[in-house]
Amino acid sequence: MVEAFAVASGKGGVGKTTSTLALGMALAKEYDVTVVDADTGMANILFHTGLADADTTLHDVLRDDATVFEAAYNRFGLRVVPCGTSLAGFRDADPTRLRNAVAALARDTDVLLLDSAAALGSKGAVLPVVLADRVIVVVEPTIPSVSDALKVQEYATSYGTGVAGVLFNRVRDDDAIDAIEEKVTRYFTGPVLGSVPESPSPRSARRASEPLLAHAPDSVAAHAYREAALALDVQTGDSETVADRFRSAVIPDRP
Ligand SMILES: Nc1ncnc2c1ncn2[C@@H]1O[C@H](COP(=O)(O)OP(=O)(O)O)[C@@H](O)[C@H]1O
Ligand SMILES: [Mg+2]
Repeated sequence: MVEAFAVASGKGGVGKTTSTLALGMALAKEYDVTVVDADTGMANILFHTGLADADTTLHDVLRDDATVFEAAYNRFGLRVVPCGTSLAGFRDADPTRLRNAVAALARDTDVLLLDSAAALGSKGAVLPVVLADRVIVVVEPTIPSVSDALKVQEYATSYGTGVAGVLFNRVRDDDAIDAIEEKVTRYFTGPVLGSVPESPSPRSARRASEPLLAHAPDSVAAHAYREAALALDVQTGDSETVADRFRSAVIPDRP
């Protein structure tokens, strides 16, 4: 049984990668979790998980030079599929191969988290949102970030992908979070999962090449992520059905 989530946002730098790994580690207490770096143009997960020297990555899988299991590493209680960062690797990657890669993983995990690219401007960028059962939308608590995130919801909905919830990240004390939360509740189809404060621990975790929940498990941000993971109602579907859907997904040329 499996549910696949794309961790997506309208804007870059809002904390998708940080959130993917933090939610993944929190969910791993209960589920068998696989995290895939599906942001193939701006891969980052390898730097958060000590996999910067990984021999085989998703780029090799998308070039048909390796199986996805050869590109999967057990780290921090998760199965992690990192992506390479070279321009050549990106250029030679066929994003449509992601379908079969995640289909293979879906047979063998409970929760699949696809760390996604920010802008939905290309085939490779939209694919995780198209493939996933539901998106987790990460937003900073500002009106521009929320309105960009609404486009992600619109896009997801048009491909039959649901919204599992909205996660506020990088929340500062002076943010008008209540007013923004009211808008989010009104316009998004999923619930607000939580609110992660702007704080030093996510950056120090990144510098240490560790996910936040491994590096600073007692930090306020880590607590907030664990709360958000509890708020996520994982709805696992039959693995074979989900795998079939991945394999046969229609990929839009343009969003
Ligand atoms: N809650 C937070 N407080 C402070 N810095 C954060 C927080 N979440 C993420 N960051 C930092 O913001 C930057 C972007 O985060 P990242 O997860 O890479 O975003 P994205 O994947 O959306 O581009 C990183 O340097 C990360 O350490
Ligand atoms: Mg990222």
